[in-house]
Order: sequence, then C-alpha cells, then structure tokens
Amino acid sequence: MSQMLPAPPSTAEPRWTEADTATGADDVRRVLRRHASGVAVITAGASTPTGFCATSLATVSFDPAVVSFAINVRTASWDTIGTADPIIAHLLGERQEDLAQRFGRSGAAKFAPPTRWQRHDLGLPLLHGVLAWLVLTPIARLPVENHVLVVCRVIQAAVDDLAGGPLIHHAGRYTSLVAGELDKRSGRRSVGQNDGQHA
Ligand SMILES: Cc1cc2nc3c(=O)[nH]c(=O)nc-3n(C[C@H](O)[C@H](O)[C@H](O)COP(=O)(O)O)c2cc1C
Repeated sequence: MSQMLPAPPSTAEPRWTEADTATGADDVRRVLRRHASGVAVITAGASTPTGFCATSLATVSFDPAVVSFAINVRTASWDTIGTADPIIAHLLGERQEDLAQRFGRSGAAKFAPPTRWQRHDLGLPLLHGVLAWLVLTPIARLPVENHVLVVCRVIQAAVDDLAGGPLIHHAGRYTSLVAGELDKRSGRRSVGQNDGQHA
C-alpha cells in the first residue's frame, strides 16, 4: 500500500473484547481470523504427487534461510509430507484463488487439469503460475496437538517478478492487496470464501 493510514485520535479509548482462551474456541478463532496471511501450497511426492493449501507458512530466519509450516496429521497429505525430503512451498498469486480452494479440499483431484504443473529436477511436483517457490529440506518436525510443525532449511528459491501481488487469506476469505484497496471505496469485503477446515 502506498499511503499510511492516519493514526487514531490519541484520546480514543481501547474497545477490547476479551476471548475466553480456556473454553471459547470460537471466540479465539474470531480473534485469530483478524490475522492476515499469505497463501501457500506445499507439495511433495516423487511417485504420487501430493499437496495441500497452507496459511501457516512462516519465515523463521533469513540467514540462514529457514521457514516453517504446520500440517494437520489427519490430512491425507500427512502420509507423504510427514516423511518427505525435499518439499516445495509455492506462494500463490492474487489470481490463484481456484488453486487455493482445490488444494484446500480433502479428496479433490488436486493435480488433474486445470492445475498446471511439471516435475522439478528433483522429481517434486512444481506448480505453474505461482509468485515464487522454495525447495525445502526439513530440519525438525515438532508434534503440536493434532499438527506437526515442520521446520525447513531453504535450499533453492525462485521468484516471478511479473506474476503480480499475493493471494491473501483474512477472516475466512480470500482477498488481495488490490481488493483491500477497493474495499475502502466499495465496501466489498473480499474475492471469495474459505471452504477449508484450517482457518
Ligand atoms: C486457506 C487455507 C489454509 C489452510 N492452511 C492449512 C495449514 O496451514 N495446515 C494444514 O494442515 N491444513 C491447512 N489447510 C487445510 C488443508 O489444506 C486441507 O485440509 C488439505 O487440503 C486436506 O487435503 P488432504 O486430506 O488431501 O491432504 C488450509 C486450508 C485452507 C483453505
């Protein structure tokens, strides 16, 4: 965004509504949904291509380059991703909501047309049309409740500078930086609904 929003008046009182973190899972979800995330698709599988949509991809460190993502062990993807090395993380662009929805749905034909992909030199499924991709080698897998936090060193990274802005997930919907700008004028909230189970 090119312009900063004006600071709120200094006299404004905070209007916090507290969530009950012990029992109010829905309340906490309502709070966490305020956190906007980029949208990634994580793939692996040299023999059977496997992949899932993830908003949990995060940078841990730039130097050395380390990222992490969380995967639910109840997904079908876990069987492959849980032991895969290497793995590819794709950063989706603002026009790739369809791809996000396909990879966010269990049982979807994720690698059938219209998904465009090829084999990376290492045999991994590499999706076309994404903003950027990272080849990852896991260095730690930390069980956390029904998820595993996979911490990975980045061993290769590529970006398409002409691919446009990022796809963003916010409040259970897909949006973009441009849509966010439009929202202020038109009141339109987003470009689509999240039908995934995660966020
Ligand atoms: C926007 C969005 C973000 C998601 N983020 C994650 C995530 O970070 N970790 C995860 O385990 N599942 C996440 N999911 C859910 C998985 O993508 C979904 O359960 C997965 O595609 C299941 O497919 P599978 O059973 O074929 O593996 C997300 C779904 C959506 C729609």
